[in-house]
Amino acid sequence: MIKPHGSDTLNPLFVYDAEKHHALIHEAGDLPSVVVSSASAANAVMMGAGYFNPLTGYMNAADALGCAENMRTTGGLFFPVPVLNLVEDISAISGARRIALRDPNVEGNPVLAIQDVEAIEELSDEQMRTMTGKVFGTTDPAHPGVAAFNSQGRFAVSGPIQVLNFSYFQADFPDTFRTAVEIRNEIREHGWEKVVAFQTRNPMHRAHEELCKMALETLDADGVVIHMLLGKLKQGDIPAPVRDAAIRKMAELYFPPNTVMITGYGFDMLYAGPREAVLHALFRQNMGATHLIVGRDHAGVGDYYGAFDAQTIFDKEVPPGALEIEIFKADHTAYSKKLNKVVMMRDVPDHTKEDFVLLSGTRVREMLGQGIAPPPEFSRPEVARILMDYYQSLD
Ligand code: ADX
Repeated sequence: MIKPHGSDTLNPLFVYDAEKHHALIHEAGDLPSVVVSSASAANAVMMGAGYFNPLTGYMNAADALGCAENMRTTGGLFFPVPVLNLVEDISAISGARRIALRDPNVEGNPVLAIQDVEAIEELSDEQMRTMTGKVFGTTDPAHPGVAAFNSQGRFAVSGPIQVLNFSYFQADFPDTFRTAVEIRNEIREHGWEKVVAFQTRNPMHRAHEELCKMALETLDADGVVIHMLLGKLKQGDIPAPVRDAAIRKMAELYFPPNTVMITGYGFDMLYAGPREAVLHALFRQNMGATHLIVGRDHAGVGDYYGAFDAQTIFDKEVPPGALEIEIFKADHTAYSKKLNKVVMMRDVPDHTKEDFVLLSGTRVREMLGQGIAPPPEFSRPEVARILMDYYQSLD
């Protein structure tokens, strides 16, 4: 099986030992504590689940800047984004060596993790700008990832963590949320060796479905792990329970049995395009995937990134050998009216735009909101039904 990133075995930071867990919960009650940002909480969930292996906790300013500037910590570990615990008000924890991190996304703010504080550093405006500029390719406050990053505090609280739960993800998505440990185990149980991961934050339309099938066939892979984002999205994106239901329906009806796993992970969308694609690859390697599909405008938003920047970064900026997982690069994919099937545009050079069924996201949303199903060449009817019910419930 493919090795995790940066170590021979996966080291999730969740405390699995029941006695130790119990003792830590008890201890946490007496520790100074802080309610962390949603991004910090998501980082803890990802570290707890083994996805951010081999990190042992939140980065300090030097490591975070190193990762932003050249995707390496000061110790030389390849990591494409800073993993920070940025806190606004440190009055309750200043001077403390061990603190409890409280969950902003669960009622009552229960303790999510315990952190050994190595340093608390106040980041300057320039350091914040460097980080957003490098990670998101822009410092524009209208960019949803930049806005979320800058809405946290300026104090970087660094040091190792012990994770005590998986926030709201396990309770809200019991069938779908998985840790990297669990996915590795399931892959092993299936006896799969070549495993394709599919990142998604959307319901799956025909293009998404066929991308997975094309990757399975082209790579002669054993299975595909559909791995959906379950954390926070920008306004207007479709909520996770609706996407989950639509994806499950599609897989049930249109994939051969035992070729697909429907799973999800607890992280807020960064919308960081190319950098997020590299992070996606890293954490799919940690969950045991040998390949990640990266298509058009992967993890993109608005016009901030070129349609295939998230592919070229792997050739231009990721040093050879930094990651073991391979990228399945997909061209723009759509239904061909000439061939009556979904194709990648690079495979049909004789086609013109008019030969494809192309619908913008805005147009699809409009149709679904009016109770009009997009054509079956674009969306499976059963998927369209679920999405129409959702959009109409918004009125
Ligand atoms: S993402 O933000 O999670 O990347 P989305 O769920 O829409 O958004 O896309 C999931 C994956 O499918 C990404 O790799 C994306 O590039 C790819 N993709 C989606 N639609 C198409 C398409 N029509 N052609 C090619 N790739 C696509």
